[in-house]
Amino acid sequence: MTGEETGGPSGKPWGGRFSEPTDRDVEAFTESISFDKRLWREDIEGSRAHARMLRRIGLLSEEELGQILTGLDKVAEEFSGGTFPVRIEWEDVHMHVEKRLVHHAGAAGLKIHTARSRNDQVALDLRLFVRREAGEMAVSLEGLLRQILLRAREYRDLLLPGYTHTQQAQPISGGYYFGAYAERFLRDRNRLLAVVGSANLSPLGSGALAGTTLPIDREGVAAELGFSGVTQNGLDSVGDRDFVADFLHALSLLMVHLSGWAEEWVLWSTREFGMIRLPDRLLTGSSMMPQKKNPDILELVRGKAGRVFSDYGALMTLLKGLPLSYNRDLQEDKERLFDALDTTRACLRMMTLAVEGMRFEEKGVAEILKGTELLATDIAEDLVRDGVPFREAHAIVGRIVAEAARKGCTLESLSDADLKSFYDRFPPGYASSLSLRGSVERRSHVGGPAPETVMRRVDALWYELFGAEPGGAPPR
Ligand code: ARG
Repeated sequence: MTGEETGGPSGKPWGGRFSEPTDRDVEAFTESISFDKRLWREDIEGSRAHARMLRRIGLLSEEELGQILTGLDKVAEEFSGGTFPVRIEWEDVHMHVEKRLVHHAGAAGLKIHTARSRNDQVALDLRLFVRREAGEMAVSLEGLLRQILLRAREYRDLLLPGYTHTQQAQPISGGYYFGAYAERFLRDRNRLLAVVGSANLSPLGSGALAGTTLPIDREGVAAELGFSGVTQNGLDSVGDRDFVADFLHALSLLMVHLSGWAEEWVLWSTREFGMIRLPDRLLTGSSMMPQKKNPDILELVRGKAGRVFSDYGALMTLLKGLPLSYNRDLQEDKERLFDALDTTRACLRMMTLAVEGMRFEEKGVAEILKGTELLATDIAEDLVRDGVPFREAHAIVGRIVAEAARKGCTLESLSDADLKSFYDRFPPGYASSLSLRGSVERRSHVGGPAPETVMRRVDALWYELFGAEPGGAPPR
């Protein structure tokens, strides 16, 4: 007996009660094999564990189990070798695997779907897929974090203008700058690890929605597949895609961070800013203007972020109208998941290359730091130390800044006489004692930009992620 013979005129595994073949247009409209074939590894892995469980509870003989496992190996070879026959009348990856299993394993294959529905099967495949991909993405993020921490160390003493509103604000260090991105991407990495946790329960045994009368061993299957446990309500489990939403949320926030950074560097690599340079291997040219070198990879990261957010939005919109249990709408989750994953992975790779290849234009940065008002807040804080209420100090320094601007000079080059006309207790030589580096070094509290403080954190992160001795130079 073959699979065809069980399905009536429709030839479908579910075709017993159908009196005519499915309309071809309906088949084309409802199929998912064109995209869910990407889940073949998970589908076969789950089927192996399910078959072993059926053997343990006595619903398969040892011989039948052997035939099924050998058959599944052959199906896997067909997929990995690209010889797998795709037929839209077999709908999805689950029915394709089953059809090919029956082809290879004969009658034993007809038992694989015992105590299982495609509803718990697809939930299982997706959980296995998300668990693996989120874990791999977390590892890729560690690759980015490694580059960031190396740059933080390299530029620990470089003075940079710190911006708010894209206006110069206070001086910071290069280590502090990269350290900021390290914190962001550390959160992204930890969010991805949490997604691994949220996917890590086995839904198998939920059946179509209400379990099975057969004496299944859900915990055994879960343990074999490396899950931390089983889901607790089948009616919920077959329609639960929270773990996919968690993943797309994590990917979306990661894209927010990548895109914001890309935007910053698009700006910083202009001639007008002239703060950073990317190597030629990462830049692209213009077909018309011979002088151009463009940061297209950064712009595409920025552009593709919107695409990932729309994948996330599409998924939420898909889920929000669904009653409990499985609804076929859920088939639409996969392309959004795959697209968000592939897009984010590619962007992460590009930003990792950019961080690895970028250099600060140190001369250009030094030029920008000349003649700035970046020390205004420090002066106000010195007045506070002298007993002036902060709001008054703010006003006094505001007047000093205006005077320097009127004279077209820097705050540091104002004379003692100039300063004393605004506040008579400035100590002699005060203006010339001001320095950007001194300012950065003084802000040494936890979370501040002083190189020592920043390096303590950078070392701790390096140690946490890569295990080197804190304080020791990371391998280059
Ligand atoms: N292709 C389906 C999906 O991706 C698999 C589950 C189909 N279940 C069903 N009862 N039709 O969601």
